[in-house]
Amino acid sequence: MKNPADIFSLKDKVALVTGATSGIGKQQAIALSGAGASIIAVGRDAARLDELMQQLPGPGVAVRTDLSTADLAETFKEAIAVAGGVDILCNTAGINLREPADQITAESWHSTLYLNLTVPFFLARELLPVMRERGGGKVINIASLQSERAFPNSAAYGASKGGVAQLTRAMAEAWSADGICCNAIGPGFFPTALTAAVFEDAEIAARNASQTAIGRNGEMKDLDGITVFLASAASDYITGQVIYVDGGFTAK
Ligand SMILES: NC(=O)c1ccc[n+]([C@@H]2O[C@H](COP(=O)([O-])OP(=O)(O)OC[C@H]3O[C@@H](n4cnc5c(N)ncnc54)[C@H](OP(=O)(O)O)[C@@H]3O)[C@@H](O)[C@H]2O)c1
Repeated sequence: MKNPADIFSLKDKVALVTGATSGIGKQQAIALSGAGASIIAVGRDAARLDELMQQLPGPGVAVRTDLSTADLAETFKEAIAVAGGVDILCNTAGINLREPADQITAESWHSTLYLNLTVPFFLARELLPVMRERGGGKVINIASLQSERAFPNSAAYGASKGGVAQLTRAMAEAWSADGICCNAIGPGFFPTALTAAVFEDAEIAARNASQTAIGRNGEMKDLDGITVFLASAASDYITGQVIYVDGGFTAK
């Protein structure tokens, strides 16, 4: 019998991770690399991409690009050729401009919706032929507590993340029969650049922690298991799901 732990192995797999220069995407890239995958790391910040390349336990190639303007059909071709294909897509790059609803402009609305919702769909669609050729794949989107409920100063962000939850189901409906499982991770509060404002206020951070069932906010390592699980054969019959990694925040 095969060692049950082998179903989590990502040996010979290639994972393309957006948002890999910071926070959750960086954590995912390192976790996937540790599980055996080659990484195509995507971000805008060259220095932080270089730093990540040093930190990965396995092979990686960096793609420096601004996803809000990149040609999604062309930008990754070279990296995919170098890596030898792509099996896993982590759609992790995202922004939250934290504007009061009355101050949101058409421009900030569109930039949030484009990066958080439009890019995940069109990037996945660009990668589909390669995944199909390799017999299947895994798409991992990033939803949010705001996929389910509203928080202050986040109308555009919340709309994008509500969209990500439904997009995940739509992707699963369209592509799962080709062996491409599409799921989303719904993180609670994790300390990253995106949530710095939340964590800098001790009172808000404590309140968020108290709203979880476990009684604390997320630690970056809490994302490793779910990322490797959704990227691996261990989750081959799971698709179209948003899995909350929130210490029970949404359960309470
Ligand atoms: N932190 C949380 O508690 C939490 C909770 C729920 C959901 N999320 C979601 O998790 C995802 C990652 O967020 P995070 O917390 O890790 O935030 P973060 O630390 O600010 O990281 C955001 C990442 O997105 C990349 N990015 C932003 N704009 C980009 C652009 N135009 N083109 C290419 N890359 C771009 C950044 O790259 P550069 O730095 O290189 O520009 C960075 O790597 C987001 O979708 C966010 O909505 C986070």
